[in-house]
Amino acid sequence: MRVFVAGAAGYLGLSVVRACARRGHTVLGLARNGAQAERIRREGGAPVLGDVLTASSYRDVAVTADAVVHLAQPSEGDLSLMRSVRVEGGRTLAETVRDRPRVRFVVGSGYWVYASHPGIVDEESPLEPRSISQINFDTERAVAETLQSAGAAPIVVRPGMVYGRGSWFQSMVTELQKGEYRYVGDGSNYLSPVHLDDAGEAFADICERAPVGTTYLVVDDLPARTSEFAAFVADRLATEPPRSISFDAAAEAWGKDLALLNVASRRATNARLRRLGWVARWKSYRDGVPAVLRGFAGDSTG
Ligand SMILES: NC(=O)c1ccc[n+]([C@@H]2O[C@H](COP(=O)([O-])OP(=O)(O)OC[C@H]3O[C@@H](n4cnc5c(N)ncnc54)[C@H](OP(=O)(O)O)[C@@H]3O)[C@@H](O)[C@H]2O)c1
Repeated sequence: MRVFVAGAAGYLGLSVVRACARRGHTVLGLARNGAQAERIRREGGAPVLGDVLTASSYRDVAVTADAVVHLAQPSEGDLSLMRSVRVEGGRTLAETVRDRPRVRFVVGSGYWVYASHPGIVDEESPLEPRSISQINFDTERAVAETLQSAGAAPIVVRPGMVYGRGSWFQSMVTELQKGEYRYVGDGSNYLSPVHLDDAGEAFADICERAPVGTTYLVVDDLPARTSEFAAFVADRLATEPPRSISFDAAAEAWGKDLALLNVASRRATNARLRRLGWVARWKSYRDGVPAVLRGFAGDSTG
């Protein structure tokens, strides 16, 4: 297969490049500069210099792909820039390939679009997007509307809490080590983790054979209470147990929407993804987190 990945040098994007290249696919990774191009090359991809908002920079390559994955998002900047790259970038990419019926369009999103739920969250559970998850939800919709005008539909991928070297997990480790990490409220709400490598493999499985028009949650087998997950990571780091912050204090510090996203309970199932044939190497954070932390320790000891 030929897979075109926008956001290929990012946290999730590189894991998709790695998984697809390992399977022998040709991975065309959109890079914004030479350093990103080099990272994509190191994972087995072929970089394409461009910008997701500028179709002319990648059109000739994207239209040759069997699957297109949208994971571009600015790593810095405000919500309006994020909205532009996610939503308008998704629309631009979808417009570029919509007349190619054989191209499968995979739009990366996140499970924070789901409402807090006392039971199990599956792909059809009620949605309540807000703040950054509203941007992911609007991206899903913009791509779907664009493809619909050509009689096509995207495949939507909503990963849970993707832990690995980078992104929120790296920040969590640093904050725990400094004694600054706080979960919100009593920490009894559930989160659903997944190892970064397993998330990449899930995207590869989805690019290869997911039915068009489907939505997939990408989570491992074991949801955890937020306090339990943080305590587990702290214990493996041999740092002080994490402490909590009240909802009101979190809302004051980060804004109400982010506080609400953090106290929501999302105990998600991977049943649909498993039916597709996805097999997690790391069935739960109890095995996967120590493996990631060993990688961090390897970095610091050289
Ligand atoms: N991280 C997680 O745990 C997680 C979990 C679930 C869902 N998700 C979702 O997955 C998506 C990607 O997240 P991520 O964590 O992988 O993000 P990321 O690490 O910030 O990677 C995004 C990549 O896109 C690039 N980019 C920015 N603007 C671009 C543009 N105009 N054209 C082309 N590329 C551009 C970035 O380059 P620069 O560095 O130059 O900006 C970066 O390399 C988001 O929708 C996120 O909500 C992430």
